[in-house]
Amino acid sequence: MNILLAGGAGYIGSHTAVELLSAGHSVVIVDDYSNSSPEAINRIEEITGKKVTAYTADVKDKAAMRKVFGENKLDCVIHFAGLKAVGESVQQPVRYYRNNIDTTLTLLECMQEADVKCIVFSSSATVYGEENKIPYVETMKRGSCSNPYGWTKVMMEEILEDATVADKDLSVVLLRYFNPIGAHDSGMLGEDPQGIPNNLMPYIAQVAVGRRDKLTVFGGDYPTPDGTCRRDYIHVMDLANGHLKAVEYAAQHKGTEVFNLGTGTPYSVLEIIKAFENASGVNIKYEIGPRRAGDLPEFWANANKAANVLGWKTVRTLEDMCKDTWKWQSMNPQGYIK
Ligand code: NAD
Ligand code: WQD
Repeated sequence: MNILLAGGAGYIGSHTAVELLSAGHSVVIVDDYSNSSPEAINRIEEITGKKVTAYTADVKDKAAMRKVFGENKLDCVIHFAGLKAVGESVQQPVRYYRNNIDTTLTLLECMQEADVKCIVFSSSATVYGEENKIPYVETMKRGSCSNPYGWTKVMMEEILEDATVADKDLSVVLLRYFNPIGAHDSGMLGEDPQGIPNNLMPYIAQVAVGRRDKLTVFGGDYPTPDGTCRRDYIHVMDLANGHLKAVEYAAQHKGTEVFNLGTGTPYSVLEIIKAFENASGVNIKYEIGPRRAGDLPEFWANANKAANVLGWKTVRTLEDMCKDTWKWQSMNPQGYIK
């Protein structure tokens, strides 16, 4: 298949590009590099030995996207192009709603014009909100989110689902990611956040490499086994493989299907620190600080549906996640050279 990766130069998109190319698919990447580097494209090509068709464009830009759809015969779209910083979304809600929702609408309009009938969407476990019981199952109703970022995901899921009600030939797969971490095992691709990392693993990796002094653990008094929050961390290459299975499924399917992409096993913040120290041999300086607003004590996936329907399951361990993160960070201490 020829697959458009909107936002494909980013963390998850770049790893997915490698997985798709390695499986024999072709990829077209559109990115405005607002949160990534063009160097990621070179690395994808270097790892796979295959050529990527890449456009520098804003996915909201209808004229630019028409050109992309006009110049390429596309079979499916994967929509990664979103702003994703939870705290920033509270400060800049309009920018988040504009970017995340408009990219989705532009893609749907261009797909309609070009008769492309298949889209896989980067959703998030955040759509389960605050009400649902753990582990999260796809049959649960979407919940209420504590921030605009989460609401954009809820709204985009709804928009995409509505589109399949109106167009019976359309296939939508909503992938609800849990907590992606890790990197390609070559050490050439990885997560390269701009500024101070919001997420746990990139923060730990930057402490390990000496870019940050110490980690603050957000809260040590949660009702969890060791008092720190628990999450379902998933290796980004297992997640990438989930996209491969999802596009192949979506191409044969019509209507909306939702899949959790997680391992089903939670780890606490302290367990992640310990696992990283073991994998890297580096001591991680940390202190327990106050809770971060909006954090839930714990959640993880019921990942049975993806196993049963897509034949997908995770194969990489927490040790792999830490080892590969460390390889990426130590080989690229400042991330991609921009
Ligand atoms: P990322 O920021 O690394 O990748 C997103 C990419 O989209 C970046 O390359 C960015 O430059 C690009 N982009 C953003 N807006 C654009 C626009 N208007 N036009 C063109 N390009 C644009 O993030 P990621 O971690 O790879 O996440 C990919 C998707 O998965 C996002 O939609 C995110 O919300 C979702 N997601 C991520 C996580 C996570 O923890 N990383 C969890 C759940 C869901
Ligand atoms: C993990 C754990 C923190 C940083 C976020 C989004 C979610 C999804 C994935 C996109 C939590 C703790 C973190 C630090 C810490 N993204 N932590 N010190 O919050 O589970 O999920 O990313 O959809 O929507 O909310 O991930 O990596 O930020 O935090 O103690 O400096 O690490 O409190 O328990 P989170 P995270």
